[in-house]
Amino acid sequence: MDREPHGRLDALMRDPYPHYARARQTEGLTHVAELDAWLVARDADVREVLRRTEDFSSANALRPDVLPSPAAFAVLGGGFGGRPVVVTSDGERHQRLRAPLVRALSPARVAAAVPYAAERAAALVDGFAKDSGVELMSAYAKRLPGYVIGRIVGLDPADVPAVVHGGHRAEELLFRPLEEAEQVAAAEDVVAMQHILDRCARDRYAHPREDLCTEIVASVAGPGQTELTLDQRHEAVAHLQNLLIAGHLTTTALIGTAVLHLLRHRPQWELLCAEPDRIPAAVEEALRHDGALQGFRRVTTRPVTLAGTELPAGATLFVAFGAANRDGGRHPRPDEFDITRTPVRHLAFGFGAHACPGAQLAREQLRITLEELTRRLPGLGLADDRPVTMRPTLIHRSPQELHLTW
Ligand code: HEM
Repeated sequence: MDREPHGRLDALMRDPYPHYARARQTEGLTHVAELDAWLVARDADVREVLRRTEDFSSANALRPDVLPSPAAFAVLGGGFGGRPVVVTSDGERHQRLRAPLVRALSPARVAAAVPYAAERAAALVDGFAKDSGVELMSAYAKRLPGYVIGRIVGLDPADVPAVVHGGHRAEELLFRPLEEAEQVAAAEDVVAMQHILDRCARDRYAHPREDLCTEIVASVAGPGQTELTLDQRHEAVAHLQNLLIAGHLTTTALIGTAVLHLLRHRPQWELLCAEPDRIPAAVEEALRHDGALQGFRRVTTRPVTLAGTELPAGATLFVAFGAANRDGGRHPRPDEFDITRTPVRHLAFGFGAHACPGAQLAREQLRITLEELTRRLPGLGLADDRPVTMRPTLIHRSPQELHLTW
């Protein structure tokens, strides 16, 4: 496998901000070879693309960076899915796929999940608070969001670790250049996750409950059936897999990046410990300053002009929420991390038709995390001997590892 193009893409993904700054300052749109796309970087231009859904389709929003090998594809053939999902759909189909998610992630349902999230967060911190240090990503950030989204979906808690693992493996398979044997192993883990989701879908069709899996199954099934058809099972699993990955990998990333920036700006961490009422503002600043989902793609449905640049039908754009959030025209001193700034609405959760339906759930989890950590471990700091490296990704931006001491 040719790793050279991936080397350049990795460098951009670990630090996309200089590319964003250049694109914001350049007239019109900038084509970025590493992204194989026109970079949309100014706040007003990002909003315009998100508003003009008929001109800018989401069909390529999740375009993988890597095509799995034939052997990995053969393994995936034994799984479920491969149907359009909410984030890559447009128009009426998009609305149909989105409706059950909006219902199941309503403010009331999210509020009902908060006590469980708080209890899991406290139990995870109990697991390391008596020590003098921790690697936060593996001990906490990769675990809390899985429990929480698992609860909302209605998974058996015993299945959560395999489902979370399957989500990480799906990301690796589609976005990292893996050796053949690793691709096959990753595909096997993805298929194992899909079989768990299929089991959950069939069970919830037979025994409905008040959870997201039941909502999704009800939305794919027709009236008067006794069981789901094979096609409906594929559709339900594709939907569930997309939702689970959207729900836990992003939140894991946000927790890691938020704690990293707070500890790199020690006076702000100390301010937060002294004045925990500032936690909601810190959550918003973490999202604005270095969000987990830096951008998604769009494709033009016809010839269009954007920011003065003429684009043909079929042109690919990278719509950079992370770049818009550093636009000085909207956010003064945009590169500074400052939890005391007056909040201005940011685009970390997107905007318009595809705006994130899980935003409140993600915010609550970071709020709970910061409440736990500031209250119980105010002496928290970055381990001096473990420099932090960012993961090479634009969809789950986070530290690779986050070693902390106290
Ligand atoms: C830090 C956490 C999160 C961030 C930064 C984030 C960000 C985003 C963004 C920017 C979009 C818009 C994508 C686009 O316009 O193409 C989006 C969509 C979406 N998010 Fe989130 N998200 C997060 C957490 C969650 C959670 C917890 C869930 C589910 C429980 C979730 C489910 C979804 C889904 C299903 C969509 C697609 C919606 C649609 O296409 O209509 N996200 N997210």
